[in-house]
Amino acid sequence: TSAVDDAVAAFREGQPVCVHDFDDREGETDIIYPARSVDADAVAHMRNDAGGLICAALSAPVADAAELPFLSDVIDHPAGESEHLAYGDRSSFSLTVNHRDTFTGVTDDDRALTISELGAFAASATDGDAVDAETFADEFRAPGHVHVLRAADGLLDERQGHTELGLALADAADQPPAVVVCEMLDDGTGDALSTAAAREYAARNDVPFVEGEALVEQLG
Ligand code: 5RP
Ligand code: CA
Ligand code: ZN
Repeated sequence: TSAVDDAVAAFREGQPVCVHDFDDREGETDIIYPARSVDADAVAHMRNDAGGLICAALSAPVADAAELPFLSDVIDHPAGESEHLAYGDRSSFSLTVNHRDTFTGVTDDDRALTISELGAFAASATDGDAVDAETFADEFRAPGHVHVLRAADGLLDERQGHTELGLALADAADQPPAVVVCEMLDDGTGDALSTAAAREYAARNDVPFVEGEALVEQLG
């Protein structure tokens, strides 16, 4: 089986995968889980083993149904005048949210609740339940401690960030279109973790490691 097959199989079981994007893009490896499967242990793994920002990516149809905008389109401040990232891409950031049943929103339990309920929301939207901004707001409040990311409408045809790579995996694994991503950083240097070290981490922990290139080839 290919690395992509292994990653899809893990995702089907609600297990994490490591995804390296492209050396000429961010050059980062993210730990990615299907959102619905995230529990407090998974959040602890992301902040201890990965260390980057914990973000929940939603497909464009789900984000549209919930009326979740790109943050760059709604920031009413001159700092918002920057459409492009240093490496030429655009940001997929939307609102930050907490589930309404959280307390501070930042603990492992609280973030796990927010993320898994985003997964449940995406599942229900995909099952054809009527969802809109109001039904989203019944469950979540903004600002919060989980960054929502909005995938590109055309998914991998349009943008090839971890946002879209993760959602393509969810689709292939018949998971709802909601995943959580977190960049792996190097505890020694603070830089992005090298691909070699990310591969070693994955092998040591029985987590499939897959390249963005392979995902685009097999799932794009
Ligand atoms: C949020 C980010 C990460 O890079 C994350 O991987 C999502 O972004 P992208 O789709 O651009 O890779 O910036 O922490
Ligand atoms: Ca980034
Ligand atoms: Zn990324």
